[in-house]
Amino acid sequence: MSTSISEIAQAAQLLRSGGVVAFPTETVYGLGADVFNTMAVAKVYELKGRPSNNPLIVHVSGPEMAAKCVAESAFDARAQLLARTFWPGPLSLVLPSASTVPDIVRGGARSRTVAVRCPDHPVALALLFALGSPLVGPSANRSGQISPTTSAHVRSAFADTDLLVLEGGPCRGGIESTVLDLSQTSPRILRPGLITPEQISRALGVDVAPALERSLIPGVSNLDPAAPLESPGLLDRHYAPSTPARLIDSGELALHLRALPHGQRAVIITSASSPDLAASSHVVVRMPSTPEGYAQQLYAALHAADAHRADVILIDCPPSTGQLWQAIHDRLRRAVAAG
Ligand code: TXA
Ligand code: MG
Repeated sequence: MSTSISEIAQAAQLLRSGGVVAFPTETVYGLGADVFNTMAVAKVYELKGRPSNNPLIVHVSGPEMAAKCVAESAFDARAQLLARTFWPGPLSLVLPSASTVPDIVRGGARSRTVAVRCPDHPVALALLFALGSPLVGPSANRSGQISPTTSAHVRSAFADTDLLVLEGGPCRGGIESTVLDLSQTSPRILRPGLITPEQISRALGVDVAPALERSLIPGVSNLDPAAPLESPGLLDRHYAPSTPARLIDSGELALHLRALPHGQRAVIITSASSPDLAASSHVVVRMPSTPEGYAQQLYAALHAADAHRADVILIDCPPSTGQLWQAIHDRLRRAVAAG
């Protein structure tokens, strides 16, 4: 099931007239609006309930369109090399912004940078080519909630609005793009994702450090709340199911189940083939054992776990060896962070 050429043309027309369209990408579904239409972009913030200082990623059809969204000569040799290596694909590049990109896209007048990415999905690319202009594309979920990896997730998050959702099947990647800050001399990862620091380091020939945890950033709690956020990774609770969720040590599942108050039901998210269940009223959501498979299934598993309306979601902590697992851990930690 996918989107026809005439549906793409219709969606492009809706975008031209200031509408909002949800579209599939290889990572998660996005909520699209014309970058240059401030009213349309404002609708995206409103629909998501997103704080206006949290900037949006600009989706482009390729390096040429990206170069028009950034300051003159900012799409430099480094950006071009990364685009050649990883685009279309899950890497967002933060660069000094062109003055033509409205402030609202960048999270306010005080921000000087813009994030650009070229999505690797035929429907997203067809839409961008049909429109001939860039699209903002935050994940198509309400702010703070679980990101959508199917069109059904998007429809259920926006059930009360008549949002046009383009069909593109389940997303292959499953977690959001890596956000890489190239606006300063040393590249920095602001949000870990499917493209790992190792891959970026190899391409650039320089060491790129993994993302810093909020708690490790000195003085971060003193940030001016009105200032643009440096990265989404600075928001603790994100990707969160509405059922309370806990990340538990592998091997301690039985202990946690025994500690549940009588009659409480748990949903267990685990890659273990036969988890040791103390009582059969619990539900098991089985996860793949590879990091690629786990990432692809992660949000669908959280959505499914939430739908059971159990008392608690217990997530069996997956391995953390390897950088893709670390990106997965970043999402898991935020999914279980206290609200
Ligand atoms: O994979 C993805 O990136 C998905 C798909 C739909 O493309 N999009 C996505 O968008 O995850 P969103 O808005 O949910 O997350 C993008 C994050 C924002 O939270 C924002 O903080 C960060 O990227 N970001 C955007 N522009 C930035 C900028 N100029 N500087 C630093 N961070 C930026
Ligand atoms: Mg998001």
